Formats: sequence, C-alpha cells, structure tokens
Amino acid sequence: MPTFAAKLIRWQKLHGRSGLPWQNTRDPYAIWISEIMLQQTQVVVVIPYYLRFLQRFPNIESLALSSLDDVLALWSGLGYYSRGRNLHQAARLIAREQGGIFPRDVQAIEQLPGVGRSTAAAIAAFAYGERRAILDGNVKRVFARCFGVDGYLGERKNETLLWQKAEELLPANECGEIEVYTQALMDLGATVCTRAKPKCMACPLQQDCTALRDNRVDKLPVRKPGRALPEKETVLLMLMQQGKILLEKRPAPGIWGGLWCLPEMPVSKNAVTYCARHYQMKVRPLAHVPSLNHAFTHFRLRIHPRLLRVVSSPAAIKMHGQDGAIWVALDDARKAAIPAPVRKLLTQHEYPQSGDLPFERQL
Ligand code: ADE
Ligand code: SF4
Repeated sequence: MPTFAAKLIRWQKLHGRSGLPWQNTRDPYAIWISEIMLQQTQVVVVIPYYLRFLQRFPNIESLALSSLDDVLALWSGLGYYSRGRNLHQAARLIAREQGGIFPRDVQAIEQLPGVGRSTAAAIAAFAYGERRAILDGNVKRVFARCFGVDGYLGERKNETLLWQKAEELLPANECGEIEVYTQALMDLGATVCTRAKPKCMACPLQQDCTALRDNRVDKLPVRKPGRALPEKETVLLMLMQQGKILLEKRPAPGIWGGLWCLPEMPVSKNAVTYCARHYQMKVRPLAHVPSLNHAFTHFRLRIHPRLLRVVSSPAAIKMHGQDGAIWVALDDARKAAIPAPVRKLLTQHEYPQSGDLPFERQL
C-alpha cells in the first residue's frame, strides 16, 4: 500500500501542473514572488503579472531600489495591494540587513512582511528542497475532507490538528521529492479537490478519503459558524383527492426547476381561500403536518406544509404558467423526480389512500 505522500507524488507526475514559469527555478527570490502572488490569486491570472514583474525586477536589489509606485503599478489589477507593499518593504529589509541575500533559514523567511508559516515552508521546499509542511487554504480543504475534520477550521484546535497532519504526512527525508509532494498538494486542492464539485473520481486519495466514504464531501470543511444564511418561508400545499396528491412541474430556471413539486403558496395567505381563488378548488384542512427546514447553498427554506382534502375541483387543473399539474397516486409520487424535502413530506406520514373520512376521524 503506497503511502499518502507516494500516492500524491505519483499523481503529480502524471496529472499535476507542470511548466509553470516559477517551477523550473531554484531562485528563492523568484519563488518568493510567485508564492506571494499565488496567495490569493489563481495561477492563470498570476502568470502574466509574474512574468512582467520578474522582467522589471529580476532580483532583490532591483526591487529594493525601485519606488513603491513602480511596484504597485505592476501590481495593478492583481488585487490585495498590501502584498505588493510587503514585497517592496521586505526587499529593502533584505538589501539593508542581509546584504541583499534572500534568507536561507525558514524562520527568517517567515519573519519577512507578508510571509506566513505556509508560504515560508513552500519557499523553503521549492528553493532549498527542505522538508517543510505547507497548509494553505486549498490544502486545508483537502485535509479536512480526507481526514473528516468536522469542526470550523478557523478554530485554533482544528488548525493545530491540521498542522500536525501536514507534518506527519510529509514524505520521508530519503525520498527527496519534497518539491513534487508540495506542488501535488497545491495542485490537488486547486484542480481536483475544489471547493465546489470536487472530482473525487480522479483523486489519488479517494481510497483514503473520509468525506467521500461518508458522503460528506459537500459538508466539509465546515462553514464558518454564525454566518447565518438568510431564511425564507413558504407554504407547500398537500392537496389530497382519493389517495392521490397534486404535483406540479416547476419551471426550469429557479429552485427545483424541472422537478415535480407540491404547489406553493405565500405564507401570508389562507390555504382554503387561496385554493378557491387560484384553483377553483374547495378544500378542507386535514391533519397538521409539522414544518421542516431545508438548506440551500445561499438560503434556508422553512417549509410549512398544509395537508388539505379536496372536496371538489374542476376537471382540469390549470396552474398558472406551469408546465403541468397532475394527480398522482402517493406511491408513484414518492418515486417521481421530486425535491428532497417533498420526498420527506410524502414519506414521513401515512396519508389517506382511498376514502378520506376514516383518516379525518383519526385526527
Ligand atoms: N499556489 C500557491 N503556490 C503555488 C504554486 N507554487 N503553484 C501553483 N499554485 C500555487
Ligand atoms: Fe477531495 Fe474527493 Fe479527493 Fe476526498 S476524494 S480528497 S473529497 S477530491
């Protein structure tokens, strides 16, 4: 069984990104610039900026001698301008205090303005082949999923746990491929284990991945707590007639587009009046069905179901602007293409199958 590192190294050689402009150098200055630019910006965006920057400022000395305005002019469009200011300041520091030689020691690298623990480690790994653990945002996501880290990663204890993992998983000293391993972690996070729609079937860690095994890939890493999603409310009508329930097809753009769904009504309306007015249906309330919550990516929906018996209805149900509305036997409805919360509503209770009265009497 290959180790974690061995799997990543093999994957990197086959599928990782290669030929990026900062990859075929051991110049710590060039690598430093690339790592700072890549901190908050994607590779494709960085490439032209990086090439221009290195052409204009090929070494620490030229950067240290330039004006801040010149640096920021080249940074223009890349965003997070404090990165440019920090680079300039750090170059002047190195020129003044280290004789213009980029620090060799990882602790000294980490002292440079704008350089954190992970960036310092990446520079040490790429420039000096040092065995150092990185943990940037992408790598945190890979680890949180792979090892099923269940808490918010902003919490100190989870961060500490991830750093421990990062240290443990480093390839053995003698394998001498720390650069490939480090690049593999970055590339996997950027191209396979992406925040949305990760490509788990192409992932070298799929056999080991806790999130994939437990079907929790979309739940990890845990979102920042307290960032409450806005809550919306709606009423879903469960209109029952002789063991059948009314479903309507949702229009294509919009939530649940193309799925069969229960008719929806604003919470402010009265269901009996609403059905009479909109569907020319006479209905009577049946049992109370408890409300339920459903989380979408950008909001939470609180659903208030209304279970209603249809006393009389027009022969053809005309729903406004919908693709169609049909009466479906409950068993068939449960098998149809219906959204998860509707499925929950249809399966959590026994609803009246034929005559309605016995059910009403149970209430
Ligand atoms: N993100 C951070 N550092 C990177 C690197 N060296 N290559 C690609 N993406 C990165
Ligand atoms: Fe990420 Fe999927 Fe790979 Fe797990 S299997 S590490 S979730 S890409």
